[in-house]
Amino acid sequence: MEIKFFKTKEECSKFASEIIVNEIKKKSNIVLGLATGSTPEILYTNLVNEYKENHISFKDIITFNLDEYVGLRDLDKKQSYRFFMDSNLFNDIDIKKENTHFPINFLDKATKKDYSEYDALIESFGGVDIQILGLGVNGHIAFNEPGSEINSKTRLISLTESTIKANSRFFEKEDYVPKEAVTMGIATILKSKKIILLAFGQQKKEALAKLKNANSFDKNWPCTALWNHNDILIVTDIEL
Ligand code: F6R
Repeated sequence: MEIKFFKTKEECSKFASEIIVNEIKKKSNIVLGLATGSTPEILYTNLVNEYKENHISFKDIITFNLDEYVGLRDLDKKQSYRFFMDSNLFNDIDIKKENTHFPINFLDKATKKDYSEYDALIESFGGVDIQILGLGVNGHIAFNEPGSEINSKTRLISLTESTIKANSRFFEKEDYVPKEAVTMGIATILKSKKIILLAFGQQKKEALAKLKNANSFDKNWPCTALWNHNDILIVTDIEL
């Protein structure tokens, strides 16, 4: 596990975006796993700038987002993670929208039960080359909430009170935060060839410390699943 500390989230995001751009230069059809939320916003702005100013092309890139809310009110459609990605990245670069994937669209049609078609599609592209992750205050990665199993695949999950509270800042009322989401599983995430976890702000310190000090998986802190991934880079403004 490599940990890179910078004083500001701007410096962290610059460092992370440079890695991604370098990888795109090496492999134009790279498969990226993408997170939403406040954490990757500057990173995505940097990528847009790379496209506009330095002519980095995203036209052959494939993306898989980590998660999506289920049960958003019509009035809150702008809180969907598809909307977030379109407005923070996809609409401003030359990516093909058909190459961008969200787990919510992969409910198994026969059983109407699971979303494992998403994992199968990721595999069919040769797996995720670089997975960007944020970190929940409660240690979640994607929406793998505490209690998630290490072998979990893409699936429907109930959001915890802590996550609903944390995400209520984007909604008029806490009541309007969806209670469920579809999330890539922990096993799905662990298959990524490279993982870049961004963690900003003191409120993430406890979760980050759990990961840093982990020497096994603790399902109460899902982020600890990353402890022995063979290519995990943590970029943070939190001094541990
Ligand atoms: C979002 C996601 C979540 C967030 C986490 C942190 O796609 O996967 O795990 O990364 O909830 O959210 P922010 O960045 O808003 O603090």
